[in-house]
Formats: sequence, C-alpha cells, structure tokens
Amino acid sequence: MADEAVITVRADGPYLIKGVKLVNHEGKEIPAPETFALCRCGQSSKKPFCDGTHRTVGFQHSVQL
Ligand code: FES
Repeated sequence: MADEAVITVRADGPYLIKGVKLVNHEGKEIPAPETFALCRCGQSSKKPFCDGTHRTVGFQHSVQL
C-alpha cells in the first residue's frame, strides 16, 4: 500500500483511488488492486467498481475548485 492515500475525482468519470483498503459494510476487506476506480455515475454493473459504463450513459460532472 502506498504511503499516501489519494482520491482523484475524474472529470465525467469515476473516483480514482490509490493507496487505501476497501471494506464492505461489515468491515470485511474487498479485494482490490493498489489503484482502482469506484463508480460515481451509479450505472456500473460491477459496483462498487467502475466498469466504464459512465462513457456510454453520458455521465457528466466536473469539480470546479
Ligand atoms: S463512473 Fe464509471 S461506470 Fe460509473
């Protein structure tokens, strides 16, 4: 696992997660690679992971800071 956890909000796409352990509602670890993408559009068939469906459904959301 990386020294620093990073969550990147991708424009019109998923949350890109690096360096964190993913657990379910019972605290049980969900196997995931060092870097993975979590669905932000709600349309993935592999939740909580992104499967690329956001592109085909036209999900649009960018964060402006
Ligand atoms: S963000 Fe990629 S499938 Fe939902």
